[in-house]
Amino acid sequence: MNRIDRETIQKILDTADIVDVVSDFVTLKRRGANYIGLCPFHNERTPSFSVSKSKGICKCFSCGKGGSPVNFIMEHEKMSFNEALRYLAKKYNIEIKEREMTDSERAAESDRENMFNVNEFAMRHFEKNMLETDEGRDIGYSYFRERGINDTAIKRFRLGYSLERGNQLLQQAKAAGFSEKYLVETGLEARREDGSLYDRFRGRVIYPVHTISGKVVAFGGRTLRSDKKVAKYVNSPESSIYSKSRELYGLYQAKKAISEKDKCILVEGYMDVISMSQSGIENVVASSGTSLTQGQIRLIHRFTDNVTLIYDSDPAGIKASLRGIDLLLAEGLNMKVVLLPEGDDPDSFAQSHSTTEVEEYIAAHETDFIRFKTEILLKDVANDPIGRSRAITDIVKSISVIPDDIVRSLYVKECSRTLDIDEKVLLQQIKKFITEQAEQRAQQQARDKARESINGTDLQTAAPNAAPQPTAEAVAPEAAAQTAATGTNATPTVNPAFMVADRTRAGVLAPYERDIVRYIVRYGMVELPTIDDNDQPTTIRVIDYVLQEFEFDNITFTNPLYSRLVDECRALIDSDWASDRETAEKNSLEQRAKHWEEGTAEIRNTAETLELIQQKERMLLEAIDTEHFARLDRHTELFFIRWLTYSPDDDIRTLVTDLATSKHKLSKVHSKYSHIETERDRLQELLPRAIYALKNAILQCDMRLKHDSLNAAAKQGDMETVKKLMLEMADLDKLRRDYAQKLGDRVVLPKS
Ligand code: CTP
Ligand code: MN
Repeated sequence: MNRIDRETIQKILDTADIVDVVSDFVTLKRRGANYIGLCPFHNERTPSFSVSKSKGICKCFSCGKGGSPVNFIMEHEKMSFNEALRYLAKKYNIEIKEREMTDSERAAESDRENMFNVNEFAMRHFEKNMLETDEGRDIGYSYFRERGINDTAIKRFRLGYSLERGNQLLQQAKAAGFSEKYLVETGLEARREDGSLYDRFRGRVIYPVHTISGKVVAFGGRTLRSDKKVAKYVNSPESSIYSKSRELYGLYQAKKAISEKDKCILVEGYMDVISMSQSGIENVVASSGTSLTQGQIRLIHRFTDNVTLIYDSDPAGIKASLRGIDLLLAEGLNMKVVLLPEGDDPDSFAQSHSTTEVEEYIAAHETDFIRFKTEILLKDVANDPIGRSRAITDIVKSISVIPDDIVRSLYVKECSRTLDIDEKVLLQQIKKFITEQAEQRAQQQARDKARESINGTDLQTAAPNAAPQPTAEAVAPEAAAQTAATGTNATPTVNPAFMVADRTRAGVLAPYERDIVRYIVRYGMVELPTIDDNDQPTTIRVIDYVLQEFEFDNITFTNPLYSRLVDECRALIDSDWASDRETAEKNSLEQRAKHWEEGTAEIRNTAETLELIQQKERMLLEAIDTEHFARLDRHTELFFIRWLTYSPDDDIRTLVTDLATSKHKLSKVHSKYSHIETERDRLQELLPRAIYALKNAILQCDMRLKHDSLNAAAKQGDMETVKKLMLEMADLDKLRRDYAQKLGDRVVLPKS
């Protein structure tokens, strides 16, 4: 695995200008300090897409999308993080340097990352097997060529072959330093009864499945034998990185074409995708033989509103696939259907026709979905009144899930004509369905909400239908914080009854934690005046101050994302602050020298006496120095924002963009000052207050927990425990007063 070198990222970050990057796609107008334009991520008539040149960030205040240049390119061009970096490097003629990961980096990678890495390794292994071994060429490669797949398509879809004998993958992956654990977890290796491992895909051609950003998430392996006893396809098992219902085969290769053509073609199998794509119809994806899920539909919807299903004309297949389609309609997608000539599937059709022929066929046979469904369902029930009424109910149900009122009423009109039923009757039926659906949704929401408040999932940025996160991660930091805040070292015994309360605690603390993270992101490197151990005046950085306070009371963030962010901040200080600062100083000094030169030339040209020249030069010097220090200040303030909006961690980039653009209101108090004070001016007072507020909230949570246990113990007449708990509560109360006191003592000096 290679990484883009840090130095390259630094260069990109220094060169890429957000206004310039966005301007390639959006017409921007200057408004005050910012630029503004029509948001490219949603339809709008009045501009709400704002670009801040100084922060290097863009954001739509209506739909919320945006971020650093790399975020913008990822979103707009549907690229992965690394692709976006490469795009920017190319735009600015920056040479990309890559480097191997160090051992410690490898170790630090999460399990998920390890699984993606071993999958990537396996994909390359299968590719190499197919092209560089005799068996691979004779069996795998010639199979694809016989099916009419050319080298370009083989490369584009990263097709490969797994050798028939031995356990080559296992051996080579281990030799390359991958641990058995991840080979098993990804399902690349399967275990025999005797415990030994074998390559799961042996003797099969390989279709890798990519995530939307191009990571290898799974494999499909097709046997080349006609033996009926051998399974035709073996697929990767579900794992912590792979959920079949959340991936679409071919989407990574198709997404650009889907956006451009504003349409997604949906087929059934691997071969259908590859053959269509090879023939020039690139906006095509497959659900891999299962009916579509909500998650897959959402994936498509990120790129287009228009979906065309292509079916082979097998009637049983059509009826089966009609079922899942209401989901697509409900998602607000415009659905069309194309039936292929008898005996053809998309694969064979694309192989036997030219691009133009396929395109023309689709254009000529594309039928609106509701019309298609009506035709199919009514065909069978021509003389069967009960069947007919059932079919009509089915059709009306499909119409009722369409979210757009206007589209819905158009269908009602049309169906009233084709079914020969009064519009009013149809409308009434639809209204009934809509009410039912709303009720179901409300119930579902109530259930979800109940579950959320137990799991605390509202804090996690998990995908909508992601499997529940393992609890260890969510609970551990809280337990630590709790131990800390009670000031005792006794680990509380885990009482299931308290788990619920313990997790909602993350919910209670969320806004306080977020506020502190906001201070770190926006002002982390700003120095505040304080006093050292010998009472001597010194300074402390905002981030160090926060961490010192946390350490003092043994506090950690309950939200794991915030902990990750702080870790990344620390790493940035170690790896990038010094050189970043040096560059900033050098640039600023150059600017200063230039202003001085221009200014003095101007003075000499205009001033009349030597005295006047000297006086004006003194003023000039003062002005350019002020500018110089203001530039450095600005650099200090933007250090974390600049780097974190380029973080490889998706969640961190999003969070930092939000925090950097959120408008924070100062309390009313300051309005009585005659001049306008910024948050920055009042940091020394606001920051300790924010930390105090968090500590206080933690204590409140602990008090509430203790109070609950106290009640429970009292009810059971366990006076021993009651007494113990009362003492502990008194301790907590004292601690709370201590915090208040400490705020009075002012670790950070008040502004004079
Ligand atoms: N499929 C699967 N497992 C199976 C059968 C099918 O995952 N046991 C999925 C595959 O994604 C496959 C799709 O369903 O591509 C369609 O199945 P099928 O029509 O049987 O396969 P084809 O893709 O047409 O494969 P081929 O043309 O090579 O026979
Ligand atoms: Mn086929």
